[in-house]
Amino acid sequence: MAEKYFFIETFGCQMNEHDSEMLAGALTAAGWDETSCPEQADLLLVNTCCVRDSAEKKIYGKLGEYKRYKRCRPGMVIAVAGCLAGKEGDRLLARFDFVDLVITNENAEKLPALAEEAAVRRRRRAEVAGRPFAESPLARRRRSNVTAWVAISRGCDNFCSYCIVPYVRGREVSRRIDSVVSEIASLVAGGIREVTLLGQNVNSFGRDNGETFGQLLTAIEERTSLQRLRFMTSHPRDFSPDIIDRLAASSIAGRHIHLPVQAGSDRILAAMNRGYTVAHYEAIIGRIREKLPGFAVTTDIIVGFPGESEEDFAATLALVERLRFDAAFTFLYSPRSRTPAASRPDQIDPATRKERLNRLMAIQNRIADEINRTYVGKTVEVLVEKTVKKNRLTWQGRCSENKLVFWDGCHFWPDGEFVTVRVTSAKTWQLSGVVIGNG
Ligand code: SAH
Ligand code: SF4
Ligand code: F3S
Repeated sequence: MAEKYFFIETFGCQMNEHDSEMLAGALTAAGWDETSCPEQADLLLVNTCCVRDSAEKKIYGKLGEYKRYKRCRPGMVIAVAGCLAGKEGDRLLARFDFVDLVITNENAEKLPALAEEAAVRRRRRAEVAGRPFAESPLARRRRSNVTAWVAISRGCDNFCSYCIVPYVRGREVSRRIDSVVSEIASLVAGGIREVTLLGQNVNSFGRDNGETFGQLLTAIEERTSLQRLRFMTSHPRDFSPDIIDRLAASSIAGRHIHLPVQAGSDRILAAMNRGYTVAHYEAIIGRIREKLPGFAVTTDIIVGFPGESEEDFAATLALVERLRFDAAFTFLYSPRSRTPAASRPDQIDPATRKERLNRLMAIQNRIADEINRTYVGKTVEVLVEKTVKKNRLTWQGRCSENKLVFWDGCHFWPDGEFVTVRVTSAKTWQLSGVVIGNG
């Protein structure tokens, strides 16, 4: 068989990055080789995101680029995978005549056969039906040999009124604890030091089969020798006190919790269908600060949700000032087709949305800066992830609190080692320091 190459490019969240490891794994198992040069690929695969309009636009821009590659290499197969495939389906084939295959990640197993069919028979096709699966038989082609993602559930049942994810990824299904534990055990045997459990709402894990997220955390700790465990994304409605207690008792939990609040006004939270109030959210953070001192807390916030008044927005700013997040991912509200919020008549005009986002970011950046500066002079435990070459040799890793840490020096630090770094300077998104010990 002649050699055939695929190139894969990924947009969107960590779950999508992890899905790309599955798509690449499926292709590799079927005899394809991966290339880092899109021009040389026989299969150009883009794994897409459509959570906001800006994400979708980016994909369309990418497709324009791919079209140019195909002009030079007409035999090339262009495939669109992921969430935009779920949203648009065969409309993508009609709109872009150079796209050969549209496939949701739920159909990953079929990718090699469909890519082959597109290459040999030049048949264009959309494969977008099919439900989320709990277990995948596909071996992943993992991107790191130090850290790994492990999906514990797929899909989402929450239907936040702004969000397209439940429509493009389907209903939530959970894996079984035994299966997750054995995957992690084999990753650890292969040298993985840190695992991030992934799900749209990890805290509702097991709801469909009688197991709980808390039980999963304990099982991983008791039955594997994993050194560091993270998870995302948590949902304030399902983030129970039991989870906090288990984290407090854990010796492997990374000292970081990502808990999207989305808005600081009860009226807006209700309209978003989030299922909790500001007081509930604050009570969780209070409990985290009490039982898990030193844990970093990060969040997601949407600005300019339909009907958001100046007063609602001021409540979000006040919440950010009160709770002092280590970081917040802040988004302009983007109307998404099929979601209830998109058809509301009281959309906020884009200029106001943008102006509010800028105000929020200014406050949050100041707070992140202030928090990170308190790390200067302290030590953090860092897992060495890679060498980054700037002017001199620099290493990169993340501390337990999930902040990016850089350091340099002439000693060589192998990937996967834990080192103690004394922080010497801090910025909004990163810390720098010197290594003062390892092991
Ligand atoms: N399941 C995760 C991730 C969802 S997508 C969660 O619930 O947190 C990541 C973030 O994108 C969300 O937390 C939300 O802040 C943002 N987001 C989702 N839909 C959006 C939309 N229509 N407009 C703007 N931001 C959106
Ligand atoms: Fe979207 Fe809400 Fe589900 Fe997150 S929990 S994926 S924001 S519907
Ligand atoms: Fe993730 Fe984007 Fe899909 S955020 S779930 S890749 S729509």
